[in-house]
Amino acid sequence: MSSSLGLTPELVAYLASANPPEHPALVRCREDTRRMTQSAMQISAEQGAFMQVLARILNAKRTFEVGVFTGYSTLATALTLKEMHGRAAHVLACDVSEEWTTKARDYWREANVDDVIELVIAPATTTLKARIAAGQGGAYDLGFIDADKQTSAAYYEAGLELLRPGGVLLFDNVLWAGRVVDPADTSADTTALRALAVKAKADPRVHAAMTNIGDGLLICVKK
Ligand SMILES: C[S@@+](CC[C@H](N)C(=O)[O-])C[C@H]1O[C@@H](n2cnc3c(N)ncnc32)[C@H](O)[C@@H]1O
Repeated sequence: MSSSLGLTPELVAYLASANPPEHPALVRCREDTRRMTQSAMQISAEQGAFMQVLARILNAKRTFEVGVFTGYSTLATALTLKEMHGRAAHVLACDVSEEWTTKARDYWREANVDDVIELVIAPATTTLKARIAAGQGGAYDLGFIDADKQTSAAYYEAGLELLRPGGVLLFDNVLWAGRVVDPADTSADTTALRALAVKAKADPRVHAAMTNIGDGLLICVKK
C-alpha cells in the first residue's frame, strides 16, 4: 500500500520530514509508480525506512523478497545491504511480472545496486523451494513477503527455513485495509491473512509481533 493505514496526509508528510531523505532513485520509483493504476501496491516511504533500519539492526547481508512490483522495497533494502557489505550483499527478488520488474531494474541500475540483486521471474514458492533444495536453508538474514496473500502459509514455511536463527520474516498487508476485522469478509485473501496471524501467534519457532506499520506488518523472529 502506498500510504500507511489510518495516517492523515499531514502525518505522512511529517514522517517523511522526520526520516532520512529517500535516495533519488527511490524518489523516482515512487513518483513514476504514482502514475500507475496499480500504485497502491507500493510500500510506503516510512515502511521502506523501517525496513532499512531493521536490515541495519540485523547487519543483514543476504535477504529475499517476494513481490517486487516496480522495485521500491527491493531497492530500499539493497541500498542498505550494499552500503554495509559492498558486493558481498545479496538480495533475492522474486516476482512473476516481467513488465513491472523491467521498470524496477531501471531504478536499481540508477542507484548502482543492480549487481547485488538477483531477480527471478517465476512463482515465488518455486524459487524459494529451489533455494532450500540447493542447500540455502539458514543462509538469509531477512525476508519480506508482499505478494499473493493466499500463498502466505507456504511463504511462511519456506521463509522460516531460509532464515538463520535470529533472522526476521516480514509479512506486509496483514491488516488488509481493515478487512481482517470485517466479519462479512470471508474472501480467500482475507481468510488467508487471518490464518497467518493465528499461525504466527501460536508458532513456538518464532517470536512474532503484529504492528500497524504500513498496511500492517507482521514481524516474525526465528528462534
Ligand atoms: C504488492 S506488490 C509488491 C510491492 C513491492 N514490494 C513494492 O515495494 O513496491 C505484489 C507483487 O507480487 C507479485 N506476485 C504476485 N503473485 C506472485 C507469485 N506467485 N510469485 C511471485 N510474485 C508474485 C506481483 O507481480 C506484484 O509485483
